[in-house]
Amino acid sequence: MQTQFDLIVIGAGPGGYIAAIRAAQLGLSVACIDAWSNAKGGPAPGGTCTNVGCIPSKALLQSSEHYEHAGHGFAEHGIDVAGLKLDLPRMLARKEQVVRQNNEGILYLFKKNKVQFVHGRASFAAKLDAGFEVDVTGPESKRLTAKQVIIATGSSPRALPDAAFDEKLILSNTGALALGEVPKRLGVIGAGVIGLEMGSVWRRLGAQVTVLEALPDFLGAADAQVAKEALKQFKKQGLDIQLGVKIAGVKAGAKVVNVRYADAQGAEQTLTVDRLIVSIGRVPNTEGLNLGAVGLSTDARGFVPVDHDCKTPVPGIWAIGDVVRGPMLAHKAEEEGVAVAERIQGQKPHVDFNTVPWVIYTAPEIAWVGQTEQQLKAAGRAYKAGSFPFLANGRARALGDTTGFVKMLSDAATDEILGVHIIGPMASELIAEAAVAMEFKAAAEDIARICHAHPTLSEAMKEAALACDGRSLNF
Ligand code: FAD
Ligand code: NAI
Repeated sequence: MQTQFDLIVIGAGPGGYIAAIRAAQLGLSVACIDAWSNAKGGPAPGGTCTNVGCIPSKALLQSSEHYEHAGHGFAEHGIDVAGLKLDLPRMLARKEQVVRQNNEGILYLFKKNKVQFVHGRASFAAKLDAGFEVDVTGPESKRLTAKQVIIATGSSPRALPDAAFDEKLILSNTGALALGEVPKRLGVIGAGVIGLEMGSVWRRLGAQVTVLEALPDFLGAADAQVAKEALKQFKKQGLDIQLGVKIAGVKAGAKVVNVRYADAQGAEQTLTVDRLIVSIGRVPNTEGLNLGAVGLSTDARGFVPVDHDCKTPVPGIWAIGDVVRGPMLAHKAEEEGVAVAERIQGQKPHVDFNTVPWVIYTAPEIAWVGQTEQQLKAAGRAYKAGSFPFLANGRARALGDTTGFVKMLSDAATDEILGVHIIGPMASELIAEAAVAMEFKAAAEDIARICHAHPTLSEAMKEAALACDGRSLNF
């Protein structure tokens, strides 16, 4: 087997596998090393996203939403479902099958693009005159060399001090996606993206869910109006979300977990649950990479330091995705992967962090791109705001899902779109129009003048654009 390459990519998550494919498309000889194994010990490329992140969580969100609709939502459509029963093993097996299809899809793409995939754990061995030596241990142990290296090793869940993940009672995202039965009482620490998505899955399947969040504000990164509506909807669904708490200790017994905490008023409380998900953010994966062998070290927060172009301080070594600064999102990792591959070939791509969309796949879905209203106010920027509720959208009424709104923010003088915030049906798909518009520096009026098909949810985007000039037609 070939051992010398133009480029080695460490990690086959969305950052690494996409970087490897793009580099190969551009004519480089590429090896991509990944440590993830499936249940049979075989390779499982795709990283956190494919194996225990984006893909399995969306599979379970879909299945659990079907279950909830069958139980509650279908009746208003005149569909009575008698004898509704949850087959959790089958639901989990489907999720696993979706994951496997994605693993296999990536292996196929490697073959198609002539990327050499190596299954094992990589660590730097040495810096050479013109390149680097990388050792692989595991299923395929070997030493490889390359002129350039991309570190795309991703991130791992952050544990609470003194409450290690056992994946039986105290769960990270990995355990939260594979519970063998629906817990009666589920605790979630951290009301971030994972807490809300996984809390929603298990609530829909029958768990009584309590979410404990340290910050006093709910979803602080989202537009405040969206966050307020989201909190109202989640509480209405039965998620018990407590803000401003301080966790004092977590103790797992034989069958239950006790969480001691001070509530927002400072009163001491104990929450007893059958399972506890801890979703308080993630930490970059650099352990075992032996960065010192090539003269690299991590920054104070454990990330591999990079400039805007994903260059590390060591020429020839790049880093992308969750292991570097910026949002921990699969599509951000992918964009950085493509950009680095193109930079290695002398091209000058650009990744605009301001147009990276955010999506939370709860019901209602939440999605945004660009600046929030509170950010514009803090920056002293003069802006116009236009909102349109799904209640006034014909398609949303036909769907029977009229929660939420689209809100557009545009510059007061130039009308350039500065941010779009959506809570409601298919927000995850609708946000793409806003990202495209912002990439093209469109004005709200540009969207307002584009013909949108009727009846579609996308008409709410057009109406929000019209509302920026106070001229909504349907509200
Ligand atoms: P990763 O996907 O973490 O991949 C890194 C890979 O490198 C892994 O396969 C790992 O095994 C491998 N690796 C690490 N060290 C080594 C080594 N030394 N040698 C060899 N291989 C190594 N993002 C979204 O955009 N949308 C979502 O819907 C979404 N949902 C999520 C749901 C959950 C539950 C979680 C946990 C995350 C979710 N994310 C989502 C975030 C997303 O998964 C990450 O941002 C994304 O996976 C980061 O990609 P990456 O390529 O940087 O790293
Ligand atoms: P997060 O950063 O989204 O949320 C963590 C939450 O935990 C925050 O609200 C934080 O204030 C809170 N917290 C931190 N310490 C705490 C403590 N001691 N006690 C109580 N609360 C505490 O992180 P999360 O949910 O773990 O997800 C990690 C990353 O994965 C996210 O940043 C996101 O980028 C990515 N992700 C993306 C998804 C998507 O795009 N739909 C889905 C899931 C994850």
